[in-house]
Amino acid sequence: MTARKSFASDNHAGAHEAVLRALTEANTGDAAAYGEDPWTARASAELAATFGAAGGVFFVFTGTAANVLGLSLLLRPYEAVICAESAHLNVDECGAAERVLGCKLLTVPAADGKLTPALVASRLGGRGDEHRAQPRVVAISQVTEYGTCYSLAELAELAGFCRAEGLRLFADGARLANAAAWLGCPLADIAAQVDVLSFGGTKNGAVGAEAVVVMAADLAEGVAFQRKQQMQLASKMRYLSAQFVGLLADGTWWRNARHANLMAQRLADGLGGVAGVTLWQPVQSNAVFAVLHPDHIARLQRDWRFYVWDETAHVVRWMAAFDTTEADVDSFLASIRETARFT
Ligand SMILES: Cc1ncc(COP(=O)(O)O)c(C=O)c1O
Repeated sequence: MTARKSFASDNHAGAHEAVLRALTEANTGDAAAYGEDPWTARASAELAATFGAAGGVFFVFTGTAANVLGLSLLLRPYEAVICAESAHLNVDECGAAERVLGCKLLTVPAADGKLTPALVASRLGGRGDEHRAQPRVVAISQVTEYGTCYSLAELAELAGFCRAEGLRLFADGARLANAAAWLGCPLADIAAQVDVLSFGGTKNGAVGAEAVVVMAADLAEGVAFQRKQQMQLASKMRYLSAQFVGLLADGTWWRNARHANLMAQRLADGLGGVAGVTLWQPVQSNAVFAVLHPDHIARLQRDWRFYVWDETAHVVRWMAAFDTTEADVDSFLASIRETARFT
């Protein structure tokens, strides 16, 4: 296996040392199970305060589970979720929400991965018609699957539209930390615009720990039962919670996200002037999407790991992580330049 840094996914990175330290500290003696332990009390209290979440915070193992649990708090069986066609929820979760919740996803093409009031409005037909699944939740991703971020103004506009239309707003926050670092705002500013959201730990240096954040107390009714039914109630919960304690201490989560974003920006900046390589999306997080000649892609993939996002349009995705170094980026850029010469 190559020792070169992977640019395929922030999931390829290992665990952050603060997470490992917290896990070791939590690994002392016995602790009550199923979240009755001090680590869970501390992590959920800290996160609830950070987000301003009156409904509480609930840990799960995966981002897919966080999406399913979050949506389950907002939907009745005949209700539907409006999301971008590119949403992880729609593309990369094997139909988990459809299977587990039995809900319909109403998808909308969104060029930059972001929903707007107009795009949501385009899927609101058939309300009140008993033959149609009833749109009830708008699900966005912040950061989106294309690495773009909603600005706070865009979020506020979408939230206002949802309120006026009687729709709930859910945010998949697998990379919420990167969004907060990009926007330079507290997590609470993003959270204030939505009803329920997830806060990803894994892509920030945790090992399979995600949080579901419930903003209003009345939405939290039943969340404990839903989580158990969805097989996400960890018996040794302290090991999930402790990871968040580690990430929250001294703003580690923010530094990790900011660093990953900066490395993506460094990569994007370095592409300027490389013939035949153009950015496909603006760089607003830790992802760089670029278009390049298929021969160039093939040559680069001999030495470097990354995904081809769209085979037809020759779009690739390059991800930076909390542990990507400037030297990793510069070495990757040197290869991009070198292999561009033969295209
Ligand atoms: C936008 C988004 N949501 C959710 C997830 C979580 O996925 P998983 O269930 O693999 O943890 C990911 C992971 O790639 C993601 O990119």
